[in-house]
Amino acid sequence: MENSFFHSHLLAICLAFAVIQVECLEFTYPSFPEETRSNLLLTGDSNLAVDALQVTYDVRGAPITNLSGRVLHKEPLKLWSKSKNKTASFNSTFTLRIVPQNSSGEGVAFILAAENSIPENSYGQWLGIVNASTNELASNNIIAIEFDTKKSYSEDLDNNHVGIDVNSIYSIYQVSLTSYGFNISNDTDLPVRIQYDAVSTNLSLSIMTNTTWNNKEIPIFSYPLDLSQHLPETVYVGFSASTGVATELNCIRSWNFTSTYINYSSKNMLLLYILLPGILVLCISCLVGIFVWWKWAHDRDWVQEDDPRMIEQKIQSSTMAPKKFRLKELKSATKNFNAKRKLGKGGFGTVYKGILNNREVAVKRVSENSRNNIQDFIAEVVTIGNLHHKNLVKLIGWCYESNELLLVYEFMPNGSLEKVIFYEENASTEQYVLSWDTRHRIICGVAQALDYLHFGCEKRVLHRDIKASNIMLDSGYNARLGDFGLARMIQPSEQTHHTTKELAGTPGYMAPEYFHTGHATAETDVYGFGVLVLEVACGRKPGYQSEVNKFNNGIVDWVWELYKLGRTTDAVDSQLDGEFYEEQAEAALLLGLACCHPNPYQRPTMRYALQVLTGEAPPPFVPVDRPAFMWPATRPSIRSELDYSLHDVGQITPFTDLSGR
Ligand SMILES: *[C@@H]1O[C@H](CO)[C@@H](O)[C@H](O)[C@H]1NC(C)=O
Ligand SMILES: *[C@@H]1O[C@H](CO)[C@@H](O)[C@H](O)[C@H]1NC(C)=O
Ligand SMILES: *[C@@H]1O[C@H](CO)[C@@H](O)[C@H](O)[C@H]1NC(C)=O
Ligand SMILES: *[C@@H]1O[C@H](CO)[C@@H](O)[C@H](O)[C@H]1NC(C)=O
Ligand SMILES: *[C@@H]1O[C@H](CO)[C@@H](O)[C@H](O)[C@H]1NC(C)=O
Ligand SMILES: *[C@@H]1O[C@H](CO)[C@@H](O)[C@H](O)[C@H]1NC(C)=O
Ligand SMILES: *[C@@H]1O[C@H](CO)[C@@H](O)[C@H](O)[C@H]1NC(C)=O
Ligand SMILES: *[C@@H]1O[C@H](CO)[C@@H](O)[C@H](O)[C@H]1NC(C)=O
Ligand SMILES: *[C@@H]1O[C@H](CO)[C@@H](O)[C@H](O)[C@H]1NC(C)=O
Ligand SMILES: *[C@@H]1O[C@H](CO)[C@@H](O)[C@H](O)[C@H]1NC(C)=O
Repeated sequence: MENSFFHSHLLAICLAFAVIQVECLEFTYPSFPEETRSNLLLTGDSNLAVDALQVTYDVRGAPITNLSGRVLHKEPLKLWSKSKNKTASFNSTFTLRIVPQNSSGEGVAFILAAENSIPENSYGQWLGIVNASTNELASNNIIAIEFDTKKSYSEDLDNNHVGIDVNSIYSIYQVSLTSYGFNISNDTDLPVRIQYDAVSTNLSLSIMTNTTWNNKEIPIFSYPLDLSQHLPETVYVGFSASTGVATELNCIRSWNFTSTYINYSSKNMLLLYILLPGILVLCISCLVGIFVWWKWAHDRDWVQEDDPRMIEQKIQSSTMAPKKFRLKELKSATKNFNAKRKLGKGGFGTVYKGILNNREVAVKRVSENSRNNIQDFIAEVVTIGNLHHKNLVKLIGWCYESNELLLVYEFMPNGSLEKVIFYEENASTEQYVLSWDTRHRIICGVAQALDYLHFGCEKRVLHRDIKASNIMLDSGYNARLGDFGLARMIQPSEQTHHTTKELAGTPGYMAPEYFHTGHATAETDVYGFGVLVLEVACGRKPGYQSEVNKFNNGIVDWVWELYKLGRTTDAVDSQLDGEFYEEQAEAALLLGLACCHPNPYQRPTMRYALQVLTGEAPPPFVPVDRPAFMWPATRPSIRSELDYSLHDVGQITPFTDLSGR
């Protein structure tokens, strides 16, 4: 049918372009806004925040010792080709910014590597390049140009040098930058150019200076090195960095890269020039065809909303669409939804553990009697399919067959936060107590995810059901926000928010005004977040709340009472035996209370909440007595309106206020 006809057409064109494109790599990042995340591979302790790559992250207040991270461009570089007997040349420029913290260490490196993962324990002197057991092994397949800010070995020239590392942390060549008048870790931008000329096998590095009068490029070294002798044909390019006992903020603020084609002899290029017009004509005719087909399909109103074809079309039109699975595959992955594989029961479905292609996954089977489930399903797939954040549970795929709706998620080995945060008196086994650091990291993670949903995506997304059982924990006990079943897109400009006929949400986490309006807003999300912060800090369940008794919220009243008595931090989970940072805990608890302010206009935004958690902003003001709930809520006075707008979306954070966002 016409469908497959267009598919095959498209395939041919894609292939043609893939052949032209794949052999050369070229990109320009003047800075790193959130949208660039999907082009990058962030591994280890790396992060993308405040428009910069934090090759090792910086969360204010959290310790940053012993970190190692790598950020690589997702699309690899075809460096050389054995069959063509040819190697690519490349140029890369980037702006490095290192902010010293405790003394300075350890450093950053520009890397070309076969592997896109980071070796374990590559923190400290290893710069995220190798570790104690892999150092000097040819199997590392890595070449690094290090910017070393600590003298870790007697062979190191000093604490301010560049060096070439081949499969090893010991440089084959190094140059100190001190005599050139550069200081790598001085909280200043260091614009660097790395060039590789494959014909003369010349690897060179220069640093650009920017004086008021002229822009000069100072050559630092050029060294003969045949990269193809040490690296496989295809490599990843990017950066690695580490901290040890000595710490620093390791950032890349901009990055350009260009490489030459290697797969085309001039004869092939000629052929390409002849073919190109043909391809173009094919392309245009295909686009016209697709448009006609689309219009035809669209104009036929007999196509039902829940026609599987329509659903598929809706999903596929969203970029980075999750994979579609066959029911058969998912049945065999979960041993036919075996009860033994059951992980839990969620808002509107049961979750099973499955094994797909040797990979553990969580399969959510949306219950048949959950109303409007087709719409919920489309909302969930489209919403999640477009969201990419390290603190969100990733949707891998979906299936809609024989009236079965299934969603396939990343498997989270440590289950939900609810399972580990609440102390059970009569628990049969010894319970694992989360440390304060872990708790703080979890809260920060949830705040980052919500800040992303509220301010970081193209369209604002509300979560609508924030609670401990919807927060999953990955293998490193980092928070991952899950279950977007209730999320609906709302346009940032729309003041009247989307309404649901029935109240969706969980008692204990619902803002008081929500019972009146039935409208979910960014502020009701903030309320749910506030309750969650208190729970995580105190290790207590939120307590009783119902339609009748909507303002009676156990944990909020309890913490507020302690705050009034000037004993706020007494609320912190007693199981921690006082092992927590007093200041950090107090800020978190005050933030929790401020988020649970009965007046929605007085609650901070998620962006401000995140700044409080990272120590960039002071904790919000909290009145000593919990104000009574009034409806309609009074709008803020002019002064507090000003305060409020200060935390609003467009605030520009100066670079020195880097934080783990
Ligand atoms: C960092 O690593 C060093 C060496 O492995 C170790 O001695 C130190 O205790 C570690 N520090 C922290 C905070 O983990
Ligand atoms: C590969 O190319 C180089 C020059 O670019 C040439 O010297 C060498 O002989 C070639 N090797 C093979 C196997 O063709
Ligand atoms: C790299 O830059 C040099 C000088 O600016 C230029 O001659 C060369 O063609 C560039 N190479 C690539 C791969 O862009
Ligand atoms: C990257 O390339 C753009 C445009 O080609 C240029 O304006 C910018 O200065 C370059 N950035 C760096 C760090 O070289
Ligand atoms: C700062 O570094 C020194 C050694 O360089 C170390 O002894 C000290 O513990 C570090 N301080 C902190 C707060 O990490
Ligand atoms: C070094 O990294 C490899 C690969 O991640 C890992 O298997 C090995 O255990 C690590 N060695 C040490 C000493 O951590
Ligand atoms: C270090 O930073 C200061 C302040 O930005 C600047 O004046 C100084 O020139 C820098 N030193 C070096 C060696 O780059
Ligand atoms: C580089 O600058 C930092 C901060 O200004 C300073 O602490 C450090 O000693 C300097 N390093 C060198 C090698 O001059
Ligand atoms: C290597 O490349 C650099 C930068 O293009 C150049 O200045 C230098 O002369 C080259 N060295 C050799 C030996 O070709
Ligand atoms: C040079 O410095 C000026 C002022 O400090 C700045 O406006 C300009 O963008 C810089 N140019 C480059 C190429 O970094």
